[in-house]
Amino acid sequence: MQKLGNEQSLAGKKILLGISGGIAAYKCAELTRRLIERGAQVQVVMTHAAKEFITPLTMQAVSGRPVSDSLLDPAAEASMGHIELAKWADLVLLAPATADLIARMAAGMGNDLLTTLVLASDAPIAVSPAMNQQMYSHPATQENIQTLSRRGCLIWGPAAGEQACGDVGMGRMLEPMQLVGLCESFFQPKLLAGRSVLITAGPTREAIDPVRYITNHSSGKMGYAIADAAAKLGAQVTLVSGPVALSTPNGVQRIDVESAQDMFDATTSNANSHDIFISCAAVADYRPDVIAKQKIKKTDENNDMSIHMVKNPDIVATIAAMTENRPFTVGFAAETQDVEHYARGKLQKKNLDMICANDVSVEGQGFNSSDNALYLYWKDTDKWEAGEKSLPLDSKQVLGFQILEQIQKLSSL
Ligand code: PMT
Repeated sequence: MQKLGNEQSLAGKKILLGISGGIAAYKCAELTRRLIERGAQVQVVMTHAAKEFITPLTMQAVSGRPVSDSLLDPAAEASMGHIELAKWADLVLLAPATADLIARMAAGMGNDLLTTLVLASDAPIAVSPAMNQQMYSHPATQENIQTLSRRGCLIWGPAAGEQACGDVGMGRMLEPMQLVGLCESFFQPKLLAGRSVLITAGPTREAIDPVRYITNHSSGKMGYAIADAAAKLGAQVTLVSGPVALSTPNGVQRIDVESAQDMFDATTSNANSHDIFISCAAVADYRPDVIAKQKIKKTDENNDMSIHMVKNPDIVATIAAMTENRPFTVGFAAETQDVEHYARGKLQKKNLDMICANDVSVEGQGFNSSDNALYLYWKDTDKWEAGEKSLPLDSKQVLGFQILEQIQKLSSL
């Protein structure tokens, strides 16, 4: 399997980047750099209007190839003609795709190099709309987008937010890194196609009173990286997330929760409709027995206070104990000492199929960092033998794919 999330995830892929005339065109230099960084070859084709927003010279410099912009240019046709260019591409990515470009494509026009290429290419076409929110919601634009979608074009975006014209709403082009992620996902062999994965991520918050709670340092990065990787591998992904400051990965259905009990309810009610469950959340083991209705006051008399805590239900152990439609169940172990010993103990005690152990006492990995290092342990069953695997320090994105690769191997036996 290719390594996604790393520099070579698009190695050898030929992407024809068609830029039309919208303000988001300025983001195409960054987009091109990031695609090339991952090993893609990028051939830029610009409409005349696009050249008003970003220069062909800039795009030539970042792509390392002369930009094509004219259908009737004898010199260009002598090097790579428009039909050759159409055949060259593994993917045609139109970003930004303006309302005008989308309308011309929907009408089947070939009145410039870009629309001609779209007609002449049998490569998959991804359209990343970008326009003013009013233009985007206009019935004509909506119908044109639906027409392209019906014809098999991939529609990537748009996003909602503040627009260059000052309006707020749907119509922003996806950010370059989101488009890169979609390209990676598009080219990735769909190892988990047809499978469904339920993942928990982030911390839980256990309320003490209306203004205070007990939580931990989980940022959600590890769980979100697994969710992102699973979606890229073709799985249907449900992410039950504690409170984090991360955006939902593309193609992932997210359920937000706060407390361990909320996470328990959301997870157990979804478990039997999923093939795989990965419990990456840092769930509070205990919660305050009573949540004070009003803010607890500091008093002059009391120099100390205590909170009586009760045990939360164990989510992963509950799911692992299911007798019907039990998903392949994977836990995590966050340890600060005797990592293997404690992880193997949790694997047995919680009746898991596999456990991913991390030493969270090591600087630069574990909680709230971009990287991690893991040990995977799985126990003997009648289908597979016990085993282990070390996943050395890498980005959580890369580790997400490696974890899923091992899960896929075992759960398909
Ligand atoms: O979110 P990040 O900042 O990216 O950090 C990632 C991480 C360190 C949180 C992650 O890699 C990790 O280790 N997650 C598990 C944290 C944890 O709670 O570990 P534990 O050893 O206490 O729990 C063992 C397993 O039981 C875990 O799968 C946990 O999700 C699960 N559990 C725990 C308690 C509970 N009530 N219900 C559970 O399901």
